[in-house]
Amino acid sequence: MSPLHVTRTLPEDATDAALRADVRHGLTSSPKSLPPKWFYDARGSELFDEITGLPEYYPTRAEREILAGRAGEIAAASGARTLVELGSGSSEKTRYLLDALTGLKAYVPVDVSESALTRAGEALVADRPDLDVHALIADFTAPLALPETPGPRLVAFLGGTIGNLLPAERAAFLSAVRTLLAPGDGLLLGTDLVKDEAVLVRAYDDAAGVTAAFNKNVLAVIDRELGADFDPGAFDHVARWDADREWIEMRLRSRTAQTVKIPALDLAVHFAAGEELRTEVSAKFRRDGVTGELAAAGMELTHWWTDKAGRFALSLSVAR
Ligand SMILES: C[S@@+](CC[C@H](N)C(=O)[O-])C[C@H]1O[C@@H](n2cnc3c(N)ncnc32)[C@H](O)[C@@H]1O
Repeated sequence: MSPLHVTRTLPEDATDAALRADVRHGLTSSPKSLPPKWFYDARGSELFDEITGLPEYYPTRAEREILAGRAGEIAAASGARTLVELGSGSSEKTRYLLDALTGLKAYVPVDVSESALTRAGEALVADRPDLDVHALIADFTAPLALPETPGPRLVAFLGGTIGNLLPAERAAFLSAVRTLLAPGDGLLLGTDLVKDEAVLVRAYDDAAGVTAAFNKNVLAVIDRELGADFDPGAFDHVARWDADREWIEMRLRSRTAQTVKIPALDLAVHFAAGEELRTEVSAKFRRDGVTGELAAAGMELTHWWTDKAGRFALSLSVAR
């Protein structure tokens, strides 16, 4: 069996510095906000995996349906020998691509969650000893140094995770992805689509409360890493559809007026009763918008597939 290569592109103290900077900036801004990448410690990654199996959370099932039906077409169109996956998490749906890409030599999963990467990577090297699995612990919004592996390259960004970036961040991200591609290389992008508000809100506010626990987990991360005294029970989970921006927002609403101490930042943060902290945006897309954003970054959309119910789209585009 070939060993699993794991590379940390950010030293741990840089991760710590980034968390400190994001928490200080986000909690002293008005309105307060935090970037979603801090959900994903080991517990957060487990909770996300649980979310993907919830009856209300259709995106994973819809994207899996598309991959199961179209992996052969994707493989034929891309002919990739290296698959890079950004925000790979459990790499569970990726199996369809790994099986269909018959000439594949290397798989490079990239994620901030070391626990998710290691678990997924170890399972893969056991099942696919022929594949060079090179896991990268990295922030995909920062410049990425990919390992030397054979082309053509296909970059996959699944799960609708692109929707967690704000529009300007998305444009910068897509331009950065384009720099990872040679002309003719591909980007396989999963995008959740605009749909009925009730269906969207339920997907982010499930009856079992798993998404609420996932949302509050960011407070547990700040408590553990920065010695803060957030009481997750003192906040309510909120999921709201913004019809103008066509995105879901997840927020944490303070039940009472309270002051939270964050000793590592020498900071005390006051929350008014009912004040909301935005923890995630999840943008929903339309075909024209996706095509235009890709074109602006130097990529041409060549394929667009949706699940039968038209809830989710997977697009393949080519670097020009
Ligand atoms: C919504 S989940 C999707 C997981 C998987 N791709 C799927 O489709 O089920 C987002 C994944 O991206 C990772 N992630 C979030 N922000 C990240 C960032 N800035 N850099 C690298 N990974 C990130 C998380 O750890 C998580 O595994």
